[in-house]
Amino acid sequence: MKMEGEEMRKPIRLIGAACSRMGIGKNGQLPWNLPKEFQFFLDTITTVSTPGKKNLVVWGRISWFSCPEAVPPHAHYLCHDFSSAVRLVSHAPLSHIVENIWVLGGSEVYRGGLEHPWCDCIYLTEIMADFDCDVFFPEFDHEVFRKQTGFPGVPDDIHEENGIRFQFQVYKKIAN
Ligand SMILES: NC(=O)c1ccc[n+]([C@@H]2O[C@H](COP(=O)([O-])OP(=O)(O)OC[C@H]3O[C@@H](n4cnc5c(N)ncnc54)[C@H](OP(=O)(O)O)[C@@H]3O)[C@@H](O)[C@H]2O)c1
Repeated sequence: MKMEGEEMRKPIRLIGAACSRMGIGKNGQLPWNLPKEFQFFLDTITTVSTPGKKNLVVWGRISWFSCPEAVPPHAHYLCHDFSSAVRLVSHAPLSHIVENIWVLGGSEVYRGGLEHPWCDCIYLTEIMADFDCDVFFPEFDHEVFRKQTGFPGVPDDIHEENGIRFQFQVYKKIAN
């Protein structure tokens, strides 16, 4: 893909939820039903600080088809690799509209986000239970991405839904 014009850097953030063994999915679905956790996810990925701007969400085919109700009726783009999705919104005309890039998974897409130099945060809800999973959140370096407390907009307390406890966690990349 050839792009003309100046590149505008965008923050890349991962968001998801993982159980105690870092499982994130089973048979193409989420292994749990946690509506409040899901609402936090929706609120977070749609929040912008500048009126009129929008966020780009990047996700893999299986996740996309498993979760159609999460897709707001906006523009959709098909990209053949992670870097081309980033290139698409870091150049005109989309660079003027897009504020943040949220990476929604699954595992390969998360890996692409983690490895990108613009990735500065991981929002990873800790599901405090073990679930049988066939897809896992990729390992990441906890010395590079440090767990935060009191992160703006992210409640620190432990929540419980359907008998499952969970806590929102944010890992912020330390400056080089
Ligand atoms: N707990 C969570 O927060 C969370 C978040 C997301 C997903 N999930 C769960 O995870 C599972 C799905 O994840 P998954 O890893 O199996 O699949 P996925 O990433 O959703 O989809 C995989 C497909 O996406 C495309 N793809 C992946 N990486 C790509 C890349 N870099 N560039 C272009 N296309 C790419 C490919 O499609 P083609 O084969 O068409 O090329 C690939 O086969 C489901 O169970 C879902 O519910 C959980």
